[in-house]
Amino acid sequence: EKGGYPHFMLKEIFEQPNTLFDCIRGRISADGTKVQLSGIEDNASRFINAKRIVLVACGTSWHAGLIGGRLIEELARIPARVEYASEFRYANPVISSDDIVIAISQSGETADTLAAIKLAKERGAFVYGVCNVVGSSIARATDTGTYIHVGPEIGVASTKAFTGQVTVLTMMALAIAQLKGTISPDALRSTAQSICKIPSQIKQTLKLNDKIEQLSRTYTYVHNFLYLGRGYNYPTALEGALKLKEISYIHAEGYPAAEMKHGPIALIDKELPTVFIAPKDELHEKVVSNIQQVKARGGSVIAIVTAGDEIIPSMADHVLEIPSSPECLSPIIASIPLQLLAYHIAVMKGCDVDMPRNLAKSVTVE
Ligand code: F6R
Repeated sequence: EKGGYPHFMLKEIFEQPNTLFDCIRGRISADGTKVQLSGIEDNASRFINAKRIVLVACGTSWHAGLIGGRLIEELARIPARVEYASEFRYANPVISSDDIVIAISQSGETADTLAAIKLAKERGAFVYGVCNVVGSSIARATDTGTYIHVGPEIGVASTKAFTGQVTVLTMMALAIAQLKGTISPDALRSTAQSICKIPSQIKQTLKLNDKIEQLSRTYTYVHNFLYLGRGYNYPTALEGALKLKEISYIHAEGYPAAEMKHGPIALIDKELPTVFIAPKDELHEKVVSNIQQVKARGGSVIAIVTAGDEIIPSMADHVLEIPSSPECLSPIIASIPLQLLAYHIAVMKGCDVDMPRNLAKSVTVE
């Protein structure tokens, strides 16, 4: 049932070209001119008139929410807030019937997320679910939603669900932007076409597996890791750090790269490797200077860069090249090498990657 792979996690990482194909299928028209999600089309006036969107989730799903919130704000021009479900439910939040709450959950059974939905509904919000498990409690408790359709996720560490969630949230932001007229037809088409390329770009990215397995040997026994990224890839950094923590038990922190100088830089020495998520984008130059700062302090650098990057390879200790994509889609592709890095380090340490200690696949208690 592991399809020849030693662990479910590796199987699920390698499944992503197919799972994302299934996730996108039927939702983007063949010519890329239309993004169709029935949950949004059937509730068009709510989305057009929404004053605010609040995304609630836990863990990896919350990281997907951070990316989704930014996309919704940037493309659909609706103020978006992203909350941990466990905080939202006890915060006495100001929520009204002009608000849309998007709840994101792979399992659809997370207790805190379910409670956040209940509260949002009591306060009159329209609640939209982004779930994987069909017919789950959260799928039933929400007013409507979109399934990510990535198939059962067995490994405790979420991989294909994360990329599916980000893909659905991207399509949602485009669909809302299309309804509201906040995106030009050209920009819509080019982003939609770029989404359709993701499955094959992930296939390409998975070829990094051997290289990542090799470099994992260098870092198997370190005690700390730092993950840095900016903009859309700040949540990617958080997600990379969480993956490493939960399956290899190595302490890791994710930060926005520019925050490094406000504290974490004090940690850097030759014992602390830093993973930079540094694809070619508007802030590329700034990330380059952050890499220089780490190198100047003796830290080693693993950099995820866009293929053809001419600057970073001369500075970093290890370079992992990913195919080029629009900035807002880069987290989906950049998270693949981070999943593989966490996987290989954990396997080399002898950890049980599919069933890490102290963790359960769905957290149905508070
Ligand atoms: C991390 C992980 C957890 C879940 C979190 C929410 O790899 O799997 O952080 O993302 O427990 O679970 P769902 O998405 O099922 O609500």
